[in-house]
Amino acid sequence: MAKKLFIKTYGCQMNVYDSARMADVLAPLGYAPVDSPSGADMIILNTCHIREKASEKVFSELGRLRRFKDERQAAGGRMLLAVAGCVAQAEGEEILKRAPHVDLVFGPQTYHRLPELVEQVTGSEARTRLSDTSFPTESKFDLLPEERAHGGGNQGPSVFLSVQEGCDKFCSFCVVPYTRGAEYSRPVADIMGEAERMVTAGAVEITLLGQNVNAYHGKAETGVPASTKTGAKTRAKTRAKTWGLGRLIRQLAEIDGLHRLRYTTSHPLDMDDELIAAHGDVPALMPFLHLPVQSGSDRVLSAMNRRHGADDYRRIVERLRAARPDIALSSDFIVGFPGETQQDFAATLSLVTDVGFAQAYSFKYSPRPGTPAANLPQVADAVKAERLAMLQQLLGAQQASFNEASVGRWLPVLLEREGRLPGQMAGRSPYMQAVHVKAPARLLGKLVEVRIDKAHPNSLSGQLEPTTRRDGMPARTVLDPPAQEASKTPSLSEGPA
Ligand code: 5AD
Ligand code: SF4
Repeated sequence: MAKKLFIKTYGCQMNVYDSARMADVLAPLGYAPVDSPSGADMIILNTCHIREKASEKVFSELGRLRRFKDERQAAGGRMLLAVAGCVAQAEGEEILKRAPHVDLVFGPQTYHRLPELVEQVTGSEARTRLSDTSFPTESKFDLLPEERAHGGGNQGPSVFLSVQEGCDKFCSFCVVPYTRGAEYSRPVADIMGEAERMVTAGAVEITLLGQNVNAYHGKAETGVPASTKTGAKTRAKTRAKTWGLGRLIRQLAEIDGLHRLRYTTSHPLDMDDELIAAHGDVPALMPFLHLPVQSGSDRVLSAMNRRHGADDYRRIVERLRAARPDIALSSDFIVGFPGETQQDFAATLSLVTDVGFAQAYSFKYSPRPGTPAANLPQVADAVKAERLAMLQQLLGAQQASFNEASVGRWLPVLLEREGRLPGQMAGRSPYMQAVHVKAPARLLGKLVEVRIDKAHPNSLSGQLEPTTRRDGMPARTVLDPPAQEASKTPSLSEGPA
């Protein structure tokens, strides 16, 4: 009988991808994913370190899980408890010290070694506990098995594909360069192979992932058969070249049946010409970009070590909109970074007003031990709270007006899951808006045209055209990628938010 593996995933989409790959690595050992911790043979918490009090939350979850472990032991069995991800990377030894019922701690770069690690903790009579938070010289991507269809949370019409990992930017507030390690780009051929298998398994949309995804610079082997008139040997000379993300996206867009491509998360400095051009002429590349700016003040941007100014960001947005006029923008903001004055904050509001965002995330600065900004004099929490409320009000109004502008339009929606209400399906518009629509379950995984009739704060709802086709599909099921029609698109740059 299969052993039950329960993985609880926190944080970003990269963790969702990693969790699915952990399930792949453990499958040959007889583990199969389950949806509940009860009765599990192994529980993995795949953790995130980006939010405040991240490790405290992990410790309290570990406390709750203890019951399952004790129950298992009382029944004469053994449940393995593992902590993975960025909290594990940052606090490996501390976890083993403070949570004696944890068996295994491993970081984002070592989960390909899971079979050995599991073997070591289960193989001996004495209870062994292990931590592996090294940054190995081998790349886990070279050693992971081919992914399989599993219940690991990365399956269905819309899936994630990790193409790049780690970060060399060292923004002064951020833990990622320490928890995920140095920047690494997977070779093109590996990514193409994985994407093709995902499409064969039913994916229609792929989101390319990386902590700094647009810094992608993967090796591409271009085969150039050598002329062999003179000799008996036929040798294929291969030239190794490096491709940027724009070039990779063009190649991925060639895959038959892959209708939608997205990528996240990007740094403004790495928005190069080729990538911006791809937004203009690769129809499968969706007109939505999450491009964190963090602040609109040059002084703060410099203290954050972002290495660009507010006007550089404005210019990038202009170039993106010149390439793809309907592109919808999203961003991340930090308020109350050490030293941020009222004037600096006003510059952030003015950048938001100038750019116009379709959605955005905003956070109060919170010090992360080990990062340079953590040691600087801090802004008072009440000030942070006030600034955050003001910023969120402005961003919320922009999001509402972006969503309102969709009402009355037909939008192509990829139906990805059941909706909240019975008989409903949910999916996303090209602009990343969640859309709810009354639709039969057999349309799962289909791109359909939806007439939007209502905008809610965080989503849209609409209707399919009545069925008129003999095969029972709505007449407006889109089988080809949607055409780019800028004129039909809500635009924030044309009016006040
Ligand atoms: N404090 C507040 N927000 C942070 N982020 C990252 N580190 C911190 C921090 N120390 C935010 C940034 C980043 C997003 C993923 O989380 O805005 O883009
Ligand atoms: Fe962190 Fe992103 Fe800066 Fe890298 S570019 S250090 S991941 S905020």
